[in-house]
Amino acid sequence: MKTWWKEAVVYQIYTKSFYDTNGDGIGDLRGIIRKLDYIQSLGATVIWLNPVYKSPDVDNGYDISDYQSIDERYGTLEDFRELLAEAHKRGIRLIMDMVLNHTSDEHVWFQESRKSKDNPYRDFYIWRPARDGKEPNNWGNYFYEGRGSAWEYDETTQEYYLHNYSRKMPDLNWDNPRLKEAMCRMMRWWLDLGVDGFRMDAINRLVKPKGLPDSPNPPTPPVGIHGYVVDRTMCANRPGIHELLHELNQKVFSKYDIMVVGETGNVDAAIAIDYVQEERQEINMVFHFEIAKNPVLKTAAEIKEIQRRWNHVVEQHGWITQYLSNHDTPRQVSWFGNDTTYRYQSATMLALLLHTHPGTVYIYQGEEIGMTNVDFPSIEYYNEKYTVGKYHTMVESGTDPAAALDSLKKTSRDNDRTPMQWNGAPHGGFTTGTPWMHVNPNYPQINVEQEEQAEQSVLRFYRTLTGLRKAHPVMVYGTYRQLLEDDPDLIVYKREYESETWLVLCNFYDREHPLPQAVKEELAKGNHRLVLANYPDAGEVLRPYEARIYSY
Ligand code: GLC
Ligand code: CA
Repeated sequence: MKTWWKEAVVYQIYTKSFYDTNGDGIGDLRGIIRKLDYIQSLGATVIWLNPVYKSPDVDNGYDISDYQSIDERYGTLEDFRELLAEAHKRGIRLIMDMVLNHTSDEHVWFQESRKSKDNPYRDFYIWRPARDGKEPNNWGNYFYEGRGSAWEYDETTQEYYLHNYSRKMPDLNWDNPRLKEAMCRMMRWWLDLGVDGFRMDAINRLVKPKGLPDSPNPPTPPVGIHGYVVDRTMCANRPGIHELLHELNQKVFSKYDIMVVGETGNVDAAIAIDYVQEERQEINMVFHFEIAKNPVLKTAAEIKEIQRRWNHVVEQHGWITQYLSNHDTPRQVSWFGNDTTYRYQSATMLALLLHTHPGTVYIYQGEEIGMTNVDFPSIEYYNEKYTVGKYHTMVESGTDPAAALDSLKKTSRDNDRTPMQWNGAPHGGFTTGTPWMHVNPNYPQINVEQEEQAEQSVLRFYRTLTGLRKAHPVMVYGTYRQLLEDDPDLIVYKREYESETWLVLCNFYDREHPLPQAVKEELAKGNHRLVLANYPDAGEVLRPYEARIYSY
């Protein structure tokens, strides 16, 4: 089936770090409005907004205290309506981040829930009595917060509540039909306002395992975690999750022309098909973590193997996503490429790889100008919960502080959260005030203004790719077949659609390679033409991070 969301190029905006218009150091909705022409010029057709709801902000907005209002740091509901209208005017749709797994502990539901065991909101959350005077089970929270447990004791009713993330983010109880109804009403409210869909946070974790059993795994190091087990599989893909998503689909999603993309950790292609197969009527596509977010850097060979597996999802009437970074990962050019000598070459090769694979494309703000990881000098510069929590846990259990910081730097989620670099003015032109988080000190060299003028411009390369996507359906709907599957360095594949055939070559590393015989033979089959490349001439040797698209 052909649809706009398969053809889409999604631009992800982390509002807090995008553009500040009132000098308080925090990006805002008016800042996005101001930059809509830029986003349009990039060729994006959908904006995904990270959460901008009212929130105490312990997890940058993923802790929502009111689903139906905009946090005053970001603006007002009026600003939001204007943003939506202005985006639509430019042919850009907008999807909201929808967090259904937990709320903030400051949400009125939780405030009520904790008051008494018979409060009408008690069962909106997951409460349990102590087990042998301790927590109800051995689960650890994902943020390594406090002593590490996923349970927090509450004096008032002398029971524990479950929080897989921060203790300020209690998990919701989706067994409760009243909660379900409230959430459906809330989502319809946003859709009636005109939003074009949702990115569903941690969506495969809504249903918890029956009886909330202990994790069978040993306690998670560092030892400072006091015997708790950080086991993200415990709440992933549990029986009942598909029925629930189908119900949300029938009651909400299917009533509108929208896209729904789920964030699903602990999901591989074989599991994913049950979420995204058209006939099942659940959600449209998922973000998997097999390539981008992994503490271990994936090799070209592994990436090829993963892409082959996910392509089966497309072949079986499902749909998939292509992304290499987001607000939870390191910067892609630093992680997969080379952010010094070959910054331009590797950033553009990765872009080309992303845009020519089957699936909806997601660009994370700053990626299009080749923004890099940041190297902050001490833990005080870091903000995000996971890095800070893990750092303190490691130090407490005896790791040398410098070594602890070093081990977390490369993968810290803050690499992606430093403010957007617009120009060479102080703080990269992000704010006239003091930014909520330090700007990457390389902003004088890497910024949008610079990229507009540079001879070798990552930004222009992205624009070319998004332009090609509009003109060539083969990029979206073409079949996908790899060549040279066993080559450890080269990622080579063929896309075919109607009368169009493309051959894509990506040298994933900085080693040179003669053009493989198989490629020459393939190209000899037709009258080939170079569609795009990241080197000025296309010769018999593939240079570091060289990438080409041929049409033949
Ligand atoms: C998702 C978000 C992440 C957040 C977490 C808890 O993984 O992408 O940023 O911390 O959910 O809501
Ligand atoms: Ca602001």
